[in-house]
Amino acid sequence: MNLLIMGLPGAGKGTQAAKIVEEFGVAHISTGDMFRAAMANQTEMGRLAKLFIDKGELVPDEVTNGIVKERLAESDIAEKGFLLDGYPRTIEQAHALDETLKALDIKLDGVINIEVNPESLVERLSGRFICRSCGSTYHKVFNPTKVEGTCDVCGGHEFFQREDDKPETVKRRLDVNIAQGEPIIAHYRELGLVSDIQGNQDIDDVFADVKKAIAAIK
Ligand code: AP5
Ligand code: MG
Ligand code: ZN
Repeated sequence: MNLLIMGLPGAGKGTQAAKIVEEFGVAHISTGDMFRAAMANQTEMGRLAKLFIDKGELVPDEVTNGIVKERLAESDIAEKGFLLDGYPRTIEQAHALDETLKALDIKLDGVINIEVNPESLVERLSGRFICRSCGSTYHKVFNPTKVEGTCDVCGGHEFFQREDDKPETVKRRLDVNIAQGEPIIAHYRELGLVSDIQGNQDIDDVFADVKKAIAAIK
């Protein structure tokens, strides 16, 4: 099964992606995670991406399309299927993805579109914290760890906040993503692939709706 998960920054793409991957065994491809890994490793691509990410701007399409194309061509994808998170994010990326999938003879099965009230997102992003060792995502109020200071998944004790979750950067990220998002969803609606999910509910209720949408796709 090959899926996209779409939604504004903080909509819960990564949170739902972790659950989808656990339940359906697809490969999680998050362009944001790939860029953050490259920044941490200080690769040339990471240094370039940082110039854009720190300002809340999009990384140029040529770079982003290139890394997704490379990842989709790896051998596990044909076997497991994929869940793309945070890509495509411009209409040009959507067209590039269409071409890449066609060249690889892969069919896109569905698009999970998490709809949220943009006003709720600043609070979500400012309260987000992430486990340093396994990358699990939490929220101070909405999704705390079961034991304070200990990751539920790996037992790690070190957490961090994302550099781009500072209020000034968050505002720019939201503006950029709102401006770019509509034509992409319209593109997939035309193909009859979109399932709209109400994202302003508890995490588990969102996931129940996501599972229903995926069951209808299969
Ligand atoms: P990326 O990493 O993709 O960030 P984003 O799109 O801004 O989305 P987030 O990861 O911030 O939010 P999310 O939807 O995953 O929410 P989460 O589940 O964590 O991209 C970062 C940057 O990289 C971009 O700005 C850009 O510069 C660059 N980039 C990436 N892809 C690119 C592309 N294709 N082209 C160009 N540039 C690209 O949840 C957020 C918080 O809310 C968490 O604390 C969580 O616990 C909590 N939460 C989740 N669900 C709920 C709920 N239902 N109720 C209450 N709280 C909830
Ligand atoms: Mg994310
Ligand atoms: Zn962890």
